[in-house]
Amino acid sequence: PWSATTRFHPYAATGGVPLMDVAERYGTPAYVVDEADLRGRCRAFRAALPDADILYAAKAFLCRAMATWIREEGLGLDVCSGGELAIARSVGFPAERIVFHGNAKTPHELLEAVEYGVGRIVVDNLAEIPRLAVLVPPGRRQKVLLRVIPDIEAGAHAAIRTGGEGQKFGLSIASGDAAAAVTRVLRQPELELVGLHCHLGSQIFAAEPYEQAARVMVEQLALVRDTYGIVLPQLDLGGGQGIAYLGTEHGLTPGGYARTVVKAMEERCAALGLPVPRLTIEPGRSISGPAGLTLYRVIAVKRTLTRTFVAVDGGMSDNPRPSLYGARYTARLIGRRSTAPARQVTLVGHHCEAGDVIAESVPLPADVRPGDVVAVPATGAYHYSMASTYNLTGRPPVIAVADGAARVVVRREEIDDLLRRDVGL
Ligand code: LLP
Repeated sequence: PWSATTRFHPYAATGGVPLMDVAERYGTPAYVVDEADLRGRCRAFRAALPDADILYAAKAFLCRAMATWIREEGLGLDVCSGGELAIARSVGFPAERIVFHGNAKTPHELLEAVEYGVGRIVVDNLAEIPRLAVLVPPGRRQKVLLRVIPDIEAGAHAAIRTGGEGQKFGLSIASGDAAAAVTRVLRQPELELVGLHCHLGSQIFAAEPYEQAARVMVEQLALVRDTYGIVLPQLDLGGGQGIAYLGTEHGLTPGGYARTVVKAMEERCAALGLPVPRLTIEPGRSISGPAGLTLYRVIAVKRTLTRTFVAVDGGMSDNPRPSLYGARYTARLIGRRSTAPARQVTLVGHHCEAGDVIAESVPLPADVRPGDVVAVPATGAYHYSMASTYNLTGRPPVIAVADGAARVVVRREEIDDLLRRDVGL
Protein backbone atom coordinates (compact mmCIF):
# COMPACT_ATOMS: atom_id res chain seq x y z
CA PRO A 1 0.00 0.00 0.00
CA TRP A 2 2.95 2.33 0.49
CA SER A 3 3.38 2.93 -3.22
CA ALA A 4 0.55 5.45 -3.23
CA THR A 5 2.74 7.98 -1.45
CA THR A 6 5.26 7.94 -4.25
CA ARG A 7 3.19 6.89 -7.25
CA PHE A 8 0.20 8.98 -8.13
CA HIS A 9 -3.07 7.11 -8.40
CA PRO A 10 -6.15 9.30 -8.43
CA TYR A 11 -8.53 6.43 -7.82
CA ALA A 12 -6.63 4.86 -4.94
CA ALA A 13 -9.16 5.96 -2.40
CA THR A 14 -12.16 4.25 -3.88
CA GLY A 15 -12.21 1.14 -1.69
CA GLY A 16 -14.08 -0.56 -4.52
CA VAL A 17 -16.71 2.19 -4.66
CA PRO A 18 -17.04 4.38 -7.78
CA LEU A 19 -16.33 7.91 -6.61
CA MET A 20 -19.16 9.27 -8.73
CA ASP A 21 -21.59 7.14 -6.72
CA VAL A 22 -20.23 8.68 -3.53
CA ALA A 23 -20.63 12.19 -4.96
CA GLU A 24 -24.19 11.50 -6.04
CA ARG A 25 -25.30 9.74 -2.91
CA TYR A 26 -23.70 12.01 -0.30
CA GLY A 27 -23.29 15.25 -2.20
CA THR A 28 -20.25 17.45 -2.59
CA PRO A 29 -17.89 18.64 -1.31
CA ALA A 30 -17.08 15.44 0.54
CA TYR A 31 -13.99 13.97 2.13
CA VAL A 32 -13.52 10.30 1.21
CA VAL A 33 -11.30 7.99 3.27
CA ASP A 34 -10.13 4.60 2.07
CA GLU A 35 -10.14 2.45 5.19
CA ALA A 36 -8.05 -0.40 3.80
CA ASP A 37 -5.39 1.97 2.49
CA LEU A 38 -5.21 3.72 5.83
CA ARG A 39 -4.98 0.48 7.78
CA GLY A 40 -2.26 -0.64 5.37
CA ARG A 41 -0.21 2.42 6.27
CA CYS A 42 -0.55 1.66 9.98
CA ARG A 43 0.62 -1.90 9.34
CA ALA A 44 3.54 -0.75 7.21
CA PHE A 45 4.86 1.34 10.11
CA ARG A 46 4.36 -1.50 12.59
CA ALA A 47 6.11 -3.96 10.29
CA ALA A 48 9.03 -1.57 9.76
CA LEU A 49 9.45 -0.89 13.48
CA PRO A 50 8.11 -3.91 15.37
CA ASP A 51 9.85 -2.89 18.61
CA ALA A 52 8.77 0.75 18.57
CA ASP A 53 5.66 2.53 19.80
CA ILE A 54 3.90 3.90 16.74
CA LEU A 55 1.61 6.75 17.75
CA TYR A 56 -0.69 8.18 15.14
CA ALA A 57 -0.71 12.00 15.39
CA ALA A 58 -4.40 12.74 15.85
CA LYS A 59 -4.13 16.37 14.73
CA ALA A 60 -3.79 15.17 11.14
CA PHE A 61 -7.28 13.64 11.10
CA LEU A 62 -9.38 12.39 13.96
CA CYS A 63 -12.97 11.30 14.29
CA ARG A 64 -14.47 8.38 16.18
CA ALA A 65 -14.09 6.00 13.24
CA MET A 66 -10.45 6.96 12.86
CA ALA A 67 -9.75 6.52 16.57
CA THR A 68 -11.35 3.08 16.33
CA TRP A 69 -9.24 2.06 13.32
CA ILE A 70 -6.08 3.22 15.08
CA ARG A 71 -7.05 1.31 18.21
CA GLU A 72 -7.80 -1.83 16.18
CA GLU A 73 -4.47 -1.56 14.35
CA GLY A 74 -2.67 -1.57 17.69
CA LEU A 75 -1.14 1.88 17.32
CA GLY A 76 -1.06 4.52 20.02
CA LEU A 77 -2.40 8.05 19.74
CA ASP A 78 -0.67 11.40 20.04
CA VAL A 79 -3.29 13.92 21.17
CA CYS A 80 -2.74 17.62 21.78
CA SER A 81 -6.03 18.92 23.13
CA GLY A 82 -8.92 18.09 25.40
CA GLY A 83 -11.04 17.68 22.27
CA GLU A 84 -8.79 15.04 20.73
CA LEU A 85 -8.64 13.28 24.09
CA ALA A 86 -12.44 13.33 24.30
CA ILE A 87 -12.75 11.55 20.94
CA ALA A 88 -10.19 8.96 22.03
CA ARG A 89 -12.12 8.40 25.27
CA SER A 90 -15.42 8.11 23.43
CA VAL A 91 -14.20 4.99 21.64
CA GLY A 92 -12.51 3.59 24.73
CA PHE A 93 -9.00 4.15 23.41
CA PRO A 94 -6.57 2.48 25.85
CA ALA A 95 -5.22 5.28 28.05
CA GLU A 96 -1.73 3.85 28.35
CA ARG A 97 -1.32 4.09 24.57
CA ILE A 98 -2.05 7.85 24.57
CA VAL A 99 0.61 10.55 24.67
CA PHE A 100 -0.54 14.07 25.52
CA HIS A 101 1.19 17.03 23.84
CA GLY A 102 0.91 20.79 23.76
CA ASN A 103 2.87 23.95 24.43
CA ALA A 104 0.03 25.59 26.37
CA LYS A 105 -1.98 22.81 27.94
CA THR A 106 -4.62 24.30 30.19
CA PRO A 107 -4.85 23.11 33.81
CA HIS A 108 -8.16 21.52 32.85
CA GLU A 109 -6.60 19.60 29.95
CA LEU A 110 -3.77 18.41 32.17
CA LEU A 111 -6.28 17.23 34.76
CA GLU A 112 -8.32 15.36 32.16
CA ALA A 113 -5.18 13.69 30.83
CA VAL A 114 -4.06 12.63 34.31
CA GLU A 115 -7.54 11.44 35.27
CA TYR A 116 -7.91 9.36 32.12
CA GLY A 117 -4.51 7.91 32.91
CA VAL A 118 -2.70 8.73 29.68
CA GLY A 119 0.53 6.80 29.30
CA ARG A 120 2.80 9.79 28.89
CA ILE A 121 2.55 13.56 29.04
CA VAL A 122 5.10 15.49 27.02
CA VAL A 123 6.33 18.44 29.08
CA ASP A 124 6.97 21.44 26.85
CA ASN A 125 8.07 24.14 29.29
CA LEU A 126 9.31 24.70 32.84
CA ALA A 127 6.07 26.17 34.18
CA GLU A 128 4.22 22.97 33.36
CA ILE A 129 6.25 20.82 35.74
CA PRO A 130 4.85 21.97 39.13
CA ARG A 131 1.44 22.59 37.54
CA LEU A 132 1.27 18.97 36.41
CA ALA A 133 2.78 17.54 39.60
CA VAL A 134 0.00 18.94 41.84
CA LEU A 135 -2.66 17.22 39.73
CA VAL A 136 -1.29 13.71 40.18
CA PRO A 137 -3.34 11.82 42.79
CA PRO A 138 -1.48 10.51 45.85
CA GLY A 139 0.08 7.14 45.32
CA ARG A 140 0.37 7.57 41.55
CA ARG A 141 3.23 8.72 39.36
CA GLN A 142 2.67 10.27 35.95
CA LYS A 143 5.12 9.25 33.26
CA VAL A 144 6.52 12.21 31.35
CA LEU A 145 8.76 12.90 28.39
CA LEU A 146 10.59 16.20 28.00
CA ARG A 147 10.33 17.89 24.62
CA VAL A 148 13.69 19.35 23.71
CA ILE A 149 14.73 21.45 20.75
CA PRO A 150 17.35 19.57 18.75
CA ASP A 151 18.09 22.71 16.71
CA ILE A 152 17.62 21.09 13.31
CA GLU A 153 15.78 22.89 10.51
CA ALA A 154 13.51 20.63 8.45
CA GLY A 155 10.01 20.82 7.02
CA ALA A 156 8.21 22.11 3.96
CA HIS A 157 7.34 25.61 5.19
CA ALA A 158 8.38 27.96 8.01
CA ALA A 159 5.00 27.45 9.71
CA ILE A 160 5.58 23.71 10.06
CA ARG A 161 9.25 23.69 11.14
CA THR A 162 9.50 22.92 14.81
CA GLY A 163 13.04 21.63 15.30
CA GLY A 164 14.96 24.88 15.53
CA GLU A 165 15.62 27.52 18.15
CA GLY A 166 13.35 30.51 17.73
CA GLN A 167 10.03 28.62 17.47
CA LYS A 168 7.61 28.13 20.31
CA PHE A 169 7.82 24.40 21.07
CA GLY A 170 10.07 22.59 23.50
CA LEU A 171 12.95 23.28 25.83
CA SER A 172 16.12 24.82 24.50
CA ILE A 173 19.32 22.88 25.06
CA ALA A 174 21.42 25.98 24.36
CA SER A 175 19.67 28.18 26.94
CA GLY A 176 19.93 25.56 29.68
CA ASP A 177 16.15 25.07 29.93
CA ALA A 178 16.34 21.42 28.89
CA ALA A 179 18.85 20.65 31.65
CA ALA A 180 16.82 22.68 34.19
CA ALA A 181 13.70 20.71 33.24
CA VAL A 182 15.46 17.38 33.83
CA THR A 183 16.57 18.56 37.28
CA ARG A 184 13.11 19.79 38.20
CA VAL A 185 11.22 16.73 36.98
CA LEU A 186 13.60 14.45 38.87
CA ARG A 187 12.83 16.44 42.03
CA GLN A 188 9.06 15.90 41.70
CA PRO A 189 8.14 12.54 43.21
CA GLU A 190 4.74 12.66 41.42
CA LEU A 191 6.45 12.57 38.03
CA GLU A 192 8.48 9.81 36.44
CA LEU A 193 10.85 10.95 33.72
CA VAL A 194 10.88 8.15 31.12
CA GLY A 195 12.57 9.83 28.19
CA LEU A 196 13.06 12.68 25.77
CA HIS A 197 11.02 13.88 22.81
CA CYS A 198 11.60 16.00 19.74
CA HIS A 199 9.59 16.77 16.62
CA LEU A 200 11.45 18.34 13.71
CA GLY A 201 8.58 19.56 11.59
CA SER A 202 6.24 18.31 8.93
CA GLN A 203 6.31 17.22 5.27
CA ILE A 204 9.97 16.14 5.46
CA PHE A 205 11.31 14.02 2.60
CA ALA A 206 14.97 13.58 3.48
CA ALA A 207 16.42 10.97 5.81
CA GLU A 208 19.27 13.18 6.93
CA PRO A 209 17.40 15.40 9.44
CA TYR A 210 16.07 12.29 11.17
CA GLU A 211 19.55 10.80 11.35
CA GLN A 212 20.81 14.01 12.87
CA ALA A 213 17.91 14.14 15.35
CA ALA A 214 18.56 10.56 16.47
CA ARG A 215 22.20 11.43 17.13
CA VAL A 216 21.49 14.70 18.96
CA MET A 217 18.84 13.08 21.12
CA VAL A 218 21.00 10.09 22.04
CA GLU A 219 23.69 12.59 23.08
CA GLN A 220 21.14 14.25 25.34
CA LEU A 221 20.29 10.87 26.90
CA ALA A 222 24.01 10.38 27.51
CA LEU A 223 24.20 13.81 29.13
CA VAL A 224 21.38 12.89 31.52
CA ARG A 225 23.20 9.66 32.37
CA ASP A 226 26.49 11.49 32.94
CA THR A 227 24.89 14.18 35.10
CA TYR A 228 22.42 12.14 37.15
CA GLY A 229 23.48 8.55 36.68
CA ILE A 230 20.04 7.78 35.23
CA VAL A 231 19.51 5.92 31.98
CA LEU A 232 16.24 7.12 30.44
CA PRO A 233 14.60 4.21 28.61
CA GLN A 234 12.65 6.05 25.88
CA LEU A 235 13.24 8.29 22.91
CA ASP A 236 10.37 9.84 20.94
CA LEU A 237 11.39 11.31 17.58
CA GLY A 238 8.00 12.76 16.60
CA GLY A 239 6.55 12.57 13.10
CA GLY A 240 6.87 14.61 9.93
CA GLN A 241 7.29 12.04 7.15
CA GLY A 242 6.35 13.73 3.86
CA ILE A 243 3.81 12.50 1.33
CA ALA A 244 3.17 13.10 -2.37
CA TYR A 245 0.45 15.60 -3.25
CA LEU A 246 1.23 15.88 -6.95
CA GLY A 247 2.58 12.37 -7.46
CA THR A 248 6.05 13.57 -8.35
CA GLU A 249 7.46 13.90 -4.81
CA HIS A 250 9.37 10.99 -3.28
CA GLY A 251 9.11 10.50 0.44
CA LEU A 252 10.65 8.07 2.88
CA THR A 253 8.95 4.71 3.15
CA PRO A 254 8.43 3.40 6.70
CA GLY A 255 11.19 0.88 5.97
CA GLY A 256 13.60 3.54 4.75
CA TYR A 257 12.79 5.75 7.71
CA ALA A 258 13.21 2.87 10.16
CA ARG A 259 16.61 1.81 8.77
CA THR A 260 17.92 5.37 8.94
CA VAL A 261 16.78 6.11 12.45
CA VAL A 262 17.57 2.75 14.02
CA LYS A 263 21.07 2.74 12.53
CA ALA A 264 21.81 6.29 13.72
CA MET A 265 20.48 5.49 17.19
CA GLU A 266 22.41 2.25 17.48
CA GLU A 267 25.68 3.75 16.29
CA ARG A 268 25.51 6.73 18.61
CA CYS A 269 24.46 4.55 21.57
CA ALA A 270 27.33 2.15 20.93
CA ALA A 271 29.79 5.05 20.78
CA LEU A 272 28.49 6.51 24.05
CA GLY A 273 28.05 3.21 25.88
CA LEU A 274 24.28 3.59 26.22
CA PRO A 275 21.63 0.89 25.81
CA VAL A 276 19.44 1.60 22.75
CA PRO A 277 16.27 3.33 24.02
CA ARG A 278 12.78 2.20 23.11
CA LEU A 279 11.76 4.28 20.13
CA THR A 280 8.46 6.11 19.77
CA ILE A 281 7.40 7.85 16.57
CA GLU A 282 4.36 10.00 15.80
CA PRO A 283 3.47 9.90 12.10
CA GLY A 284 0.28 11.74 11.18
CA ARG A 285 0.19 12.88 7.57
CA SER A 286 1.94 9.77 6.24
CA ILE A 287 -0.81 7.55 7.69
CA SER A 288 -3.98 9.46 6.87
CA GLY A 289 -2.92 11.86 4.09
CA PRO A 290 -2.68 9.59 1.05
CA ALA A 291 -5.74 7.60 2.16
CA GLY A 292 -8.08 10.54 1.62
CA LEU A 293 -9.36 12.63 -1.24
CA THR A 294 -11.90 15.41 -1.65
CA LEU A 295 -14.75 15.37 -4.16
CA TYR A 296 -16.04 18.66 -5.53
CA ARG A 297 -18.65 19.55 -8.10
CA VAL A 298 -17.79 22.08 -10.77
CA ILE A 299 -20.10 25.11 -10.57
CA ALA A 300 -18.63 27.47 -13.15
CA VAL A 301 -15.95 27.55 -15.81
CA LYS A 302 -14.61 30.99 -16.68
CA ARG A 303 -12.17 31.65 -19.49
CA THR A 304 -10.40 34.96 -19.02
CA LEU A 305 -7.77 36.60 -21.20
CA THR A 306 -5.00 35.00 -19.17
CA ARG A 307 -6.38 31.77 -17.78
CA THR A 308 -9.25 29.39 -17.25
CA PHE A 309 -10.83 29.19 -13.82
CA VAL A 310 -12.71 26.09 -12.82
CA ALA A 311 -14.77 27.01 -9.76
CA VAL A 312 -16.07 24.30 -7.45
CA ASP A 313 -18.43 24.06 -4.48
CA GLY A 314 -15.69 23.94 -1.81
CA GLY A 315 -12.40 25.70 -1.34
CA MET A 316 -10.32 27.26 1.40
CA SER A 317 -12.85 26.31 4.09
CA ASP A 318 -12.22 22.60 3.47
CA ASN A 319 -8.60 23.03 2.32
CA PRO A 320 -6.75 26.00 3.81
CA ARG A 321 -3.32 24.54 3.01
CA PRO A 322 -2.62 26.38 -0.28
CA SER A 323 -3.20 29.75 1.38
CA LEU A 324 -1.42 28.85 4.63
CA TYR A 325 1.62 27.01 3.33
CA GLY A 326 1.64 27.56 -0.43
CA ALA A 327 0.79 23.86 -0.71
CA ARG A 328 0.28 22.46 -4.21
CA TYR A 329 -2.38 20.02 -5.36
CA THR A 330 -3.66 18.41 -8.48
CA ALA A 331 -7.12 17.22 -9.53
CA ARG A 332 -8.74 14.66 -11.81
CA LEU A 333 -12.05 14.62 -13.59
CA ILE A 334 -14.07 11.63 -12.48
CA GLY A 335 -17.32 10.02 -13.51
CA ARG A 336 -17.04 10.51 -17.25
CA ARG A 337 -14.44 9.92 -19.92
CA SER A 338 -13.39 12.88 -21.99
CA THR A 339 -11.44 12.72 -25.21
CA ALA A 340 -10.83 16.47 -25.14
CA PRO A 341 -7.17 17.50 -24.82
CA ALA A 342 -5.96 18.49 -21.38
CA ARG A 343 -5.64 22.23 -20.64
CA GLN A 344 -4.02 23.89 -17.65
CA VAL A 345 -6.70 25.42 -15.46
CA THR A 346 -6.78 27.10 -12.07
CA LEU A 347 -9.02 25.22 -9.68
CA VAL A 348 -10.69 27.74 -7.38
CA GLY A 349 -13.22 27.61 -4.57
CA HIS A 350 -16.45 29.47 -3.89
CA HIS A 351 -15.20 31.72 -1.10
CA CYS A 352 -15.14 35.48 -1.19
CA GLU A 353 -11.48 36.11 -1.76
CA ALA A 354 -9.05 35.88 -4.63
CA GLY A 355 -6.65 33.73 -2.63
CA ASP A 356 -9.22 30.93 -2.52
CA VAL A 357 -7.27 28.75 -4.94
CA ILE A 358 -7.20 24.98 -4.51
CA ALA A 359 -4.63 24.31 -7.22
CA GLU A 360 -2.79 26.19 -9.93
CA SER A 361 -1.98 24.65 -13.31
CA VAL A 362 -4.15 21.57 -13.13
CA PRO A 363 -4.44 19.62 -16.38
CA LEU A 364 -8.18 19.04 -16.90
CA PRO A 365 -9.96 18.12 -20.16
CA ALA A 366 -10.77 21.21 -22.22
CA ASP A 367 -14.47 20.34 -22.12
CA VAL A 368 -14.71 20.44 -18.31
CA ARG A 369 -18.10 21.93 -17.50
CA PRO A 370 -20.53 22.72 -14.70
CA GLY A 371 -21.89 19.53 -13.14
CA ASP A 372 -18.64 17.62 -13.54
CA VAL A 373 -17.08 16.10 -10.46
CA VAL A 374 -13.38 16.41 -9.69
CA ALA A 375 -11.28 14.59 -7.11
CA VAL A 376 -8.33 16.18 -5.33
CA PRO A 377 -6.04 13.45 -3.97
CA ALA A 378 -4.00 13.26 -0.76
CA THR A 379 -6.39 15.30 1.37
CA GLY A 380 -6.67 12.82 4.23
CA ALA A 381 -4.48 14.81 6.65
CA TYR A 382 -4.89 18.41 7.83
CA HIS A 383 -8.02 19.03 5.79
CA TYR A 384 -11.01 17.82 7.80
CA SER A 385 -9.07 18.68 10.95
CA MET A 386 -8.35 22.23 9.77
CA ALA A 387 -11.65 22.96 8.05
CA SER A 388 -13.50 26.16 8.88
CA THR A 389 -17.00 27.48 8.31
CA TYR A 390 -15.82 30.58 6.44
CA ASN A 391 -18.69 32.34 4.64
CA LEU A 392 -21.02 30.21 6.80
CA THR A 393 -20.52 27.08 4.79
CA GLY A 394 -20.97 23.86 6.69
CA ARG A 395 -18.01 21.50 6.79
CA PRO A 396 -18.09 18.50 4.43
CA PRO A 397 -18.93 15.00 5.60
CA VAL A 398 -16.35 12.24 5.91
CA ILE A 399 -17.30 9.16 3.90
CA ALA A 400 -15.43 5.95 4.61
CA VAL A 401 -15.15 3.46 1.77
CA ALA A 402 -14.19 -0.19 2.21
CA ASP A 403 -14.94 -3.48 0.48
CA GLY A 404 -17.21 -1.89 -2.08
CA ALA A 405 -19.35 -0.08 0.49
CA ALA A 406 -19.50 3.56 1.54
CA ARG A 407 -20.74 4.96 4.85
CA VAL A 408 -20.89 8.32 6.51
CA VAL A 409 -18.57 8.49 9.52
CA VAL A 410 -18.93 12.24 10.06
CA ARG A 411 -22.09 13.81 8.73
CA ARG A 412 -22.20 17.04 6.76
CA GLU A 413 -22.47 20.20 8.84
CA GLU A 414 -25.78 21.82 7.95
CA ILE A 415 -26.78 25.46 8.27
CA ASP A 416 -28.92 24.45 11.27
CA ASP A 417 -25.78 23.22 13.05
CA LEU A 418 -24.24 26.64 12.49
CA LEU A 419 -27.35 28.58 13.48
CA ARG A 420 -27.87 26.57 16.65
CA ARG A 421 -24.90 28.08 18.45
CA ASP A 422 -25.65 31.63 17.32
CA VAL A 423 -28.03 32.61 20.15
CA GLY A 424 -28.70 36.14 18.93
CA LEU A 425 -29.55 39.13 21.08
N1 LLP B 1 4.18 15.00 16.62
C1 LLP B 1 4.10 16.29 16.96
C2 LLP B 1 4.56 16.72 18.28
C3 LLP B 1 3.58 17.23 16.06
O1 LLP B 1 3.51 18.50 16.40
C4 LLP B 1 3.13 16.79 14.79
C5 LLP B 1 2.58 17.73 13.83
C6 LLP B 1 3.21 15.42 14.48
C7 LLP B 1 3.75 14.56 15.43
C8 LLP B 1 2.76 14.84 13.18
O2 LLP B 1 3.42 15.35 12.08
P1 LLP B 1 3.14 14.73 10.62
O3 LLP B 1 3.65 13.31 10.63
O4 LLP B 1 1.69 14.77 10.38
O5 LLP B 1 3.89 15.62 9.70
N2 LLP B 1 -1.13 21.77 9.48
C9 LLP B 1 0.16 21.52 8.89
C10 LLP B 1 0.96 20.47 9.63
C11 LLP B 1 1.16 20.81 11.09
C12 LLP B 1 1.89 19.74 11.82
C13 LLP B 1 1.81 19.96 13.29
N3 LLP B 1 2.44 18.97 14.08
C14 LLP B 1 -0.03 21.11 7.42
O6 LLP B 1 -1.17 21.03 6.97
O7 LLP B 1 0.95 20.92 6.71
